[in-house]
Amino acid sequence: MADLLLALDVKGKAEAVRVAAACAGELDAIKIGYPLVLSTGLGIVKDLAKSEIPIIADFKVADIPNTNSLICEEVFGAGCAGIITHAFCGSDSLAACVDASHDHGGVCFVVCEMSHPGALDFLSGENAERMARMAKAAGADGIIAPATRPERTATLRGIIGSSMKIYSPGVGAQGAQPEDVKKYVDGIIVGRAIYEAADPKAAAHEFRVRAR
Ligand code: C5P
Repeated sequence: MADLLLALDVKGKAEAVRVAAACAGELDAIKIGYPLVLSTGLGIVKDLAKSEIPIIADFKVADIPNTNSLICEEVFGAGCAGIITHAFCGSDSLAACVDASHDHGGVCFVVCEMSHPGALDFLSGENAERMARMAKAAGADGIIAPATRPERTATLRGIIGSSMKIYSPGVGAQGAQPEDVKKYVDGIIVGRAIYEAADPKAAAHEFRVRAR
């Protein structure tokens, strides 16, 4: 049984609020990222807070420790409940993100393997497995692993064990189905297949039921 996270990669406050309101009651969290925040500013977090579900900032943080901490301060100060970071900058950069998240009462998820075909160049295989081990050692709350390669997500689950969460993108527009990964993960992340649907609430409802 997996939660449903909406990847709200729309532009502008009006569209974001429209989709979030339409999906009310069908989502367990909303993931925001650069497309939305660059078009609205971080104030969008307060606008989406009416949904009364956690807002997770997918900024795929990838910088030196001090900069990572500063980014976390802004994200959690704006009202986010969680942040998604990269791990490839190394254990000190990752620790800065995890520690800053926890200092602000938030959670930190670590991208280990991405869902798109190009992930196979760097963000997969042994690199992904090393990053999963690093995420566990850093005390991260969870990892991001691909619904598009469920066997890889199963492998990463084996590395992190059951005490950390896995959120899994790639369901819908990227071709994966909820049934492919729901037994390995704590949440599926769905973007275009919900926010581009003629009836986003109905689409969200269907994904939520299928993820259960
Ligand atoms: O529209 P779609 O369902 O493909 O959106 C997937 C979302 O998950 C996007 O916000 C994308 O940035 C994000 N994501 C991903 N693969 C990762 C990490 C995040 O697709 N490994």
